[in-house]
Amino acid sequence: MITITFVSNEGKTVSAPPESNLLRVSIREKGGIPFKCGGGLCGTCRCHIDQGIEHTDAVKPKERKHLSDADLAAGYRMACQTFLKGDVSVSWEPRTAPPVTRRASTDPTR
Ligand code: FES
Repeated sequence: MITITFVSNEGKTVSAPPESNLLRVSIREKGGIPFKCGGGLCGTCRCHIDQGIEHTDAVKPKERKHLSDADLAAGYRMACQTFLKGDVSVSWEPRTAPPVTRRASTDPTR
């Protein structure tokens, strides 16, 4: 099993089998990564791999529609297009507040 840390969700940590899709794990485990289409079209699932970018698979052509070379070099990926080979920590915007003050995922305004 591999470990995924959802930094923007109060550092929630979950386990998943290797080769898991990052967005699918997030949905299943309530990790909290934003998404709409799940198919590489909308760009909503843009996220930053804080740690473990070397544990992600190759960047897909669909990701390049939403992420510049600079974004990719900085560690951004599209969660719905990213498969995991090992442990990662992932964050996403907005990440202006420290985790302890972030809204809970049960916030009805989300
Ligand atoms: S959820 Fe739409 S691009 Fe990933």
